[in-house]
Amino acid sequence: MNFPHSRPQRLRSTALARNLVAETALSPDQLVAPLFVKESLTDPEPIPTMPGVSKHSIRSLRKEAEELLSAGVRAVILFGIPKTKDPEGSEASDRDGIVQRAVMELADAFGSELLISTDLCLDEFTDHGHCGVLGESGAVDNDATLERYAEIAISQATAGSGLIAPSGMMDGQVGAIRGALDSAGFKMTPIMAYSVKFASAFYGPFRDAAECAPAFGDRRSYQMDYRNRGEAVREALLDEDEGADILMVKPAGHYLDIISDIKAVTTLPVAAYQVSGEYSALKAATEAGYLDAEPVMIESLTAIRRAGANLIITYFAKDAARALS
Ligand code: PBG
Repeated sequence: MNFPHSRPQRLRSTALARNLVAETALSPDQLVAPLFVKESLTDPEPIPTMPGVSKHSIRSLRKEAEELLSAGVRAVILFGIPKTKDPEGSEASDRDGIVQRAVMELADAFGSELLISTDLCLDEFTDHGHCGVLGESGAVDNDATLERYAEIAISQATAGSGLIAPSGMMDGQVGAIRGALDSAGFKMTPIMAYSVKFASAFYGPFRDAAECAPAFGDRRSYQMDYRNRGEAVREALLDEDEGADILMVKPAGHYLDIISDIKAVTTLPVAAYQVSGEYSALKAATEAGYLDAEPVMIESLTAIRRAGANLIITYFAKDAARALS
């Protein structure tokens, strides 16, 4: 046999050599755990479509954060489920709202040990389940929604959120939130923009969990069409211009091309959200014994890193951090 000089297998024959030349690393420092906190709960409530994930009361939230920290996960993103919903999603910007109280509780318990980020959207808080307020036509009114987002941003930052993450896909949301934060004295509070968020069927389990499925219609008039790739770059660059500090792509696993494209056009950190449906699909397959749980979890996360994500929001955060240590 006549081989060229380069024989790729030379560096694959031992673990030491493989590790020496590995191009991608995955560390607990790069993982963010999504946490659900529900106002009406006193005890945690398991989410049937997301085995291993629960909705929390304020008290159990604190315990969950403790477990995350001891596993090595130091960042969380909070989602709130209020007791009462109305057309404007009033609870989202209430100083005693469930998210605000959860932030204060965690900040009080863990201080600078934990990076507390807050999802900023209206769908969990509106009675119609849309991510914005509705105009006279019955459709989401983008520009009126920006005013609500500005109020929510200020109330989250006031409670102590360390990273504001707008997920509603309204045009101009990053600029509106940046302006509001700056004028309220929160110049150093960063924004992690859900810049490229697709209208995806993979959010199904989350909508059960967060009780936020739209009462009518769908989100395709504001979330992106998953057939589009060039538009994803346009969305990301707009958010960069408006002052985003981190650009997010969501979902992650089926959108590695998008992550890679965004990474190529920005020097900002890129985040990827491995969403509920990605988690639940892997979980179902591993619980059925069709796939091996730990290796597929680590492979799925490493692939997202390899595509270009600096950080990953994932329901596997605790398990992955444990597996990595
Ligand atoms: C909107 C929001 C959603 C998710 C995160 N923020 C739901 C949606 O857009 O319908 C989905 C996350 C997941 O599926 O894990 N507040």
